[in-house]
Amino acid sequence: FLPATKAIPKEMLTIVDRPLIQLAVDEARDAGIEHFVFVTGRNKNSIEDHFDRQYELEATLRSRGKSKELDMLESDLPSAGQVSFTRQQEPLGLGHAVWCARHIIGDEPFALLLPDMAMKSSTGCLRQMMDIYEDRGGNILAIEEVPWADVGKYGVVGYDREANSTLKINQMVEKPTQSTAPSNNIISGRYILQPEIFAKLAAISPGAGGEIQLTDAMIALMAEQEFFGLNYSGETFDCGDKLGFLLANVAYGLTHKDIGPAFKEELRRLLLNEFATEILPKTIAA
Ligand code: G1P
Repeated sequence: FLPATKAIPKEMLTIVDRPLIQLAVDEARDAGIEHFVFVTGRNKNSIEDHFDRQYELEATLRSRGKSKELDMLESDLPSAGQVSFTRQQEPLGLGHAVWCARHIIGDEPFALLLPDMAMKSSTGCLRQMMDIYEDRGGNILAIEEVPWADVGKYGVVGYDREANSTLKINQMVEKPTQSTAPSNNIISGRYILQPEIFAKLAAISPGAGGEIQLTDAMIALMAEQEFFGLNYSGETFDCGDKLGFLLANVAYGLTHKDIGPAFKEELRRLLLNEFATEILPKTIAA
């Protein structure tokens, strides 16, 4: 994403008008989460600022009578004491980032959302996972089928299929090759985990890519606890990838309450122009 992310954290890139990190918080809030723990790092202060008041901005909006914008800022703002920040001082991997939050989370089950995966669905992905959690307990992962060519970019699961869209996970591999992947179902960035994961994170050695991998700690925990996967209903956009990020903007733009209809019209016009220059000359030549 360089140069876009030279001075801006990738979590602050916007999908239409909401930063990716805000979409993750929206989804967590809708699922009933009441305390938000952010694991950030150097040069990510704008994330902290984003979840704080901006007095000057609020005063300006008030003086201009922009009550709709003010209401939106107010409703997006977490309440006092509802957010905690911790820093991962070195980029040692996702597992290490999660481990950095151990003292804040304490001895409770928790949800983990990776904001580069934008999940678009009428019922939030985490809410769908909570429903299974309330029924089955254990650990729950959001699972998605991807083309086999893409399995090496993700953590991949092996499973037995249960009722509905629930899977009983019996294998996990981080960044497998196509021949070592147990399936083409990936772990798609949403987790409900038990606090025993922290002891496993403390004990594992670096795995794929030389990083402390959350997947490796989950494999260790799977020997003691159950892991379920949910093939959730909705669409995922991997916004760690330029194509996924652009598609997310298109998908969210098309359903955006203010600009959706106008965006659709403009998109239609652009695509028709594109098809006309691409297809018509070929048709005439034929
Ligand atoms: C991480 C996880 C991986 C998961 C992916 C989803 O990988 O390690 O298991 O499938 O997120 O985005 P990363 O994106 O950090 O390489």
